[in-house]
Amino acid sequence: MPIVAFRIDPWASEDLKDYEKLFSYFGMRPFDEVVTQLKSFGELPLPIRRGAVVGHRDFEMVLDCLKSGSRFTILTGLMPSGKMHFGHKMLIDQVIYYQGLGAEIFLAIADVEAYGVRKLSREDVINYALNEYVANYLALGLNAKGLHIYFQSNYRKEYYRLIQLFARKVTMAELTAIYGEDLEPAKIVSVLTQAADILHPELPHFGGFKTVLVPVGLDQDPHLRLTRDIADRFSNELGLTRPAATYHKFLCGLTGGKMSSSKPESFIALTDPIDESVRKLMASLTGGRATAEEQRRLGGEPDKCPVFELNSLHLVKDDAHLRRIHEECRNGSMLCGECKLATAERLRKFLEDHQERLKTSIETAKTLVETPDF
Ligand code: TRP
Ligand code: SF4
Repeated sequence: MPIVAFRIDPWASEDLKDYEKLFSYFGMRPFDEVVTQLKSFGELPLPIRRGAVVGHRDFEMVLDCLKSGSRFTILTGLMPSGKMHFGHKMLIDQVIYYQGLGAEIFLAIADVEAYGVRKLSREDVINYALNEYVANYLALGLNAKGLHIYFQSNYRKEYYRLIQLFARKVTMAELTAIYGEDLEPAKIVSVLTQAADILHPELPHFGGFKTVLVPVGLDQDPHLRLTRDIADRFSNELGLTRPAATYHKFLCGLTGGKMSSSKPESFIALTDPIDESVRKLMASLTGGRATAEEQRRLGGEPDKCPVFELNSLHLVKDDAHLRRIHEECRNGSMLCGECKLATAERLRKFLEDHQERLKTSIETAKTLVETPDF
């Protein structure tokens, strides 16, 4: 069989839809196979319950920790390259859930990657990180207790030492095989830094060994494949072991494609003025038909509809309520105008409450993170 080149470029912001290919090419596993067991530890967060978390690697390790009461840690990262929108919220909803299950939380602010690869200014990156990401995380319910948040450029020496040691056991051939030919030094630095992000909680200097789970978007899998290999190569020298990972799909953008910070009409940010958010929602694509008559006759297509997805993954917690919306869309008894108006009310309510909480969390954010001085 010919070998077909298929790469995931974590910096290309492509919309990965072909999960079967990710499973069969890269050995990612479908999350379905572990979700039933996870259910026995309490109510699942929306991204998991509503099917946005599609893949995993070695999640069984986390189930084992839950069963035996052993420690596990969440390590994930945020790219502070703009506003925090509902697509980003899916990740933090999962982090908050695992925190509730007793996991210690480490959050890496990827300022080195935002500066080196996304080419943003240091000032912008620091501002986005604190005022958008960390502040919103707290307002969404992330508990400051036992929480470690750090900037990649402003952390502890043992973490930097990992990056330096890792460099010895990674080859250019494997990096180009994973990331393609146009590898700039800034990308290599970001990749090794991300490996240190993921593996440093296992070191004795950071509270001693614990199982690490990395919840991320599907596009981050190349970094996890590399990091898991690096862990193997340092198992004797440093006692590192492979991290587990889960992968969520991207939220649909309101204008088609994925929700993306670079397309303002595609997203609703958690700090967007409420009227502006409602306007974007009302202008959104839907899974509706060309005419009202046709929609009454054929029904809409909620499974292709960004408005339905926003309800499903963020705004409607009650399963029976969501099922009703799905049904009324499918059978044509509810048209998109009506559905959008009801969604707009939910959105308004959510943002009002959230933005109220945000007033205090912006101040708290600054006290939780050590800000780099340049
Ligand atoms: N590369 C990630 C992104 O683009 C950010 C990141 C940095 C990260 N370090 C991490 C993600 C560690 C998960 C784990 O969003
Ligand atoms: Fe989407 Fe609602 Fe229209 Fe159905 S009725 S397609 S869920 S906007």
